[in-house]
Amino acid sequence: MFEKRLLVTGGAGFIASHVIICLLERYPDYLIINLDKGDICDEHFMKLLFEIERIHIVLHFAAQTHVDKSFWCSSEFKNVNIYGTEILVKAAYQANVEKFIHVSTDEVYGGSIKEEFSETSPRCPTNPYAASKAASECVVMSYWENFKFPVIVTRSSNVYGPHQYPEKVIPKFIALLQRNRKCCIHGTGNQTRHFLYATDVAEAFLTILEKGEPGEVYNVGTNFVLSVFQLAKELVHLIKETVSESELELWIDHVNDRPSNDLGYPMNSKKLHRLGWKPKVPWEEGIRKTIKWYETNFHNWSDAENALAPFPSSVLQDGCQQL
Ligand SMILES: NC(=O)c1ccc[n+]([C@@H]2O[C@H](COP(=O)([O-])OP(=O)(O)OC[C@H]3O[C@@H](n4cnc5c(N)ncnc54)[C@H](O)[C@@H]3O)[C@@H](O)[C@H]2O)c1
Repeated sequence: MFEKRLLVTGGAGFIASHVIICLLERYPDYLIINLDKGDICDEHFMKLLFEIERIHIVLHFAAQTHVDKSFWCSSEFKNVNIYGTEILVKAAYQANVEKFIHVSTDEVYGGSIKEEFSETSPRCPTNPYAASKAASECVVMSYWENFKFPVIVTRSSNVYGPHQYPEKVIPKFIALLQRNRKCCIHGTGNQTRHFLYATDVAEAFLTILEKGEPGEVYNVGTNFVLSVFQLAKELVHLIKETVSESELELWIDHVNDRPSNDLGYPMNSKKLHRLGWKPKVPWEEGIRKTIKWYETNFHNWSDAENALAPFPSSVLQDGCQQL
C-alpha cells in the first residue's frame, strides 16, 4: 500500500529524470508513475490513467522544449505545451488531485539585462517556445482562479547536468569539443544565461512539493550567470586542457542567430528561499561532473550526432519535415 501516488510527466527527459531519482530516494513509500511515451494530448488515455491509478499529486514536466525547433515547428509546441497541458490539468481536476505542479520557465518573462524579474513581473515571451509556456501557465492558473484547484507554477533558469539531450547549449558544446569540433555560438554570444545544476533544481521541486502554496508562482533561479561566449571559452578551457588563453577562440564559431534571442533572464527567487531552498552545487563541480558524464554517455541517444548541427540558415522556410 503506497502512502501517495505521484504522476511525473516527461520523466524520460532531462530534468524530470533527476526529480524521479530524488523522489525515489526521499519517499520510498510513494508510488512514482512516469508518463512519457504515453501522450498527454490523448484525452481518453489521460482520463483512464487518472481513473485507474488514483493519483494524488502531479508534477508536469512533459513539453516540447527546444527553442530553436520552436521557430519552425511552432504548431507542435502549441499542441503539446498548451493543448496537452489543458488535457492533463482537466483530467487531474476531475480526478480530485491534491496538488498539481506545473513546470514553466524564466523565458516567459522575455529578455532583460538589468531588471530582475520577480514572480509578479509581466510575461513578455519572445519566441514560440516561451509563448507556449506562458499560455500553458494561464491554462493551469485558470483552474485555480475558477475552481480553487491547487495548482502551483514554477519558473526555472537554465538547467544543466547529465541526461540532457545534446541539442541544448551545454551538452552540445561539450559533445562538439569532445569530438574535436568547434562550439557553434548563435550570433555574438553576448546573450547571458543563469545556470543551475540539475540536482539543485530537483531539490527545488521537492521543496515546492512539500511547502509550496496553492495558486502561487515560484521562481527557481541562481546568481550564477555566464554569457554564451564565456560559457564556450570556459568549456574549451576545461576540455582542451592544453590550449592557451590566446588559442581558446580557435575552438569557437559564430553561426546564424535565432530570429530573436533574449539577452538574459535575471530573476530573484526570494520567495523560494523563504521555503528553505538555495542552490548548493558550485559551477566548477557541476560542470566537471557533466563533462565526465558525456564522455561515456553521449551515444545513449542513437540520434545524438544529429543534435550537434548549428542553427539552420533558413528555419522559417525549412518546415517541420526537416526534423
Ligand atoms: N532544461 C531547462 O533548462 C529548463 C528550464 C526551465 C524550464 N524547463 C521546463 O522543464 C520541463 C522539462 O524540460 P527538460 O529540459 O527536461 O526537457 P526534455 O525535452 O529533456 O524533456 C521533456 C520530456 O517530455 C516528453 N514529452 C514531450 N511531449 C510529450 C507528450 N505529448 N506526452 C508525454 N510526454 C511528452 C519528452 O519525451 C521528453 O522526455 C519543460 O516543461 C521545460 O519547459 C526546462
